[in-house]
Amino acid sequence: MKSYKVAVIGGDGIGPEVTSSAVQVLKKVADKFGFTLDFTECDAGGCSIDKAGVPLTEQTLDICRSSDAVLLGAVGGPKWDNVEPSLRPERALLGLRSGLGLYSNLRPALMFKELSSASPLKNVEAMDILIVRELTGGIYFGRHGRSDSSEVLSDGSVKGVTAYDTEEYSTAEITRILKEGFRYAQGRNKKLTLVDKANVLESSRLWREIASSIAPDYPDVQLDYLYVDNCSMQLINRPSTFDVIVTSNMFGDILSDEAGMITGSIGMLPSASLGAPGTPGMYEPVHGSAPDIAGTGKANPLATILSASMLLRWSLGETDASDAIEKAVRLTLADGFRTPDIMGDGEGVTAVDTEGMTAAVLSRI
Ligand code: IPM
Ligand code: MG
Repeated sequence: MKSYKVAVIGGDGIGPEVTSSAVQVLKKVADKFGFTLDFTECDAGGCSIDKAGVPLTEQTLDICRSSDAVLLGAVGGPKWDNVEPSLRPERALLGLRSGLGLYSNLRPALMFKELSSASPLKNVEAMDILIVRELTGGIYFGRHGRSDSSEVLSDGSVKGVTAYDTEEYSTAEITRILKEGFRYAQGRNKKLTLVDKANVLESSRLWREIASSIAPDYPDVQLDYLYVDNCSMQLINRPSTFDVIVTSNMFGDILSDEAGMITGSIGMLPSASLGAPGTPGMYEPVHGSAPDIAGTGKANPLATILSASMLLRWSLGETDASDAIEKAVRLTLADGFRTPDIMGDGEGVTAVDTEGMTAAVLSRI
């Protein structure tokens, strides 16, 4: 029987609740489709700061490196808002991304038709976008720091502290993620939109040059370009016309929240962070740790359950099991089960808590 190692990082806030739901679902499909999963729980984020003094330990990173895949809930919360920047819980995410070489972040924003009434937009019938976000470069990982100057300016004020973060991208980094974007577009509706700020940024102009130079290798894919400000408008204006969006680390962070909101609830959005072939991928819901609802049973586990489905597909190659989870989620929604975030107009639906939603999915596998 095939056997896989999965590292599970519950993390903070609602993280442990939603990962526990996803683990139950993973166990169920493993039984049904004849493979075994060996789970190792580890800490990262605020809970790791509390136990080990740092958001990410070498031990957690080693467990993740030697696993086939990592399932992560969420990190962060108000308790750690005042710790020094290099020790913030979010550093755990950045450390896992760079430590595991997870340069490609897939964030599908799919509107389930049952949830269209939960979307803040009127008349969106369909939306199925794959955001491919570069995850280990750009301004998140560029040179940053501060300098101090006592220079007196012409208005008499003292210049003082200057803080800087730099957006830097190499040809190798850009080419690697663009090729992924083209390949995903080939497997979908064959449209790729490069989102950048090439009217202002030199780094964006390099993205465009490379995209147009490799486009002929993917003749079946239609490539277009959008400035990020325009893209944020067009996502609202014509969400159903997008297929694959490829973009830099920071633009992808921002646009994926916007696209998520359009689908109705960020509580539905899964993600995959992938590195070189053969290395472990990391799977997590796009929503954060939502400390305000932690422990109340209000958390929607579907984003993490759908992340587990992506884990089976992209890291373990267990596509039948992955399909079975997606199908069960669709049936659960069609049968009217709703956590508070996806209540919409509340007509004809059954309100459930985290456990109720998990049980509904489990019974449909
Ligand atoms: C995300 C989050 C993270 C990011 C934060 C928590 C560091 O917003 O995964 O989208 O900015 O990448
Ligand atoms: Mg974000």
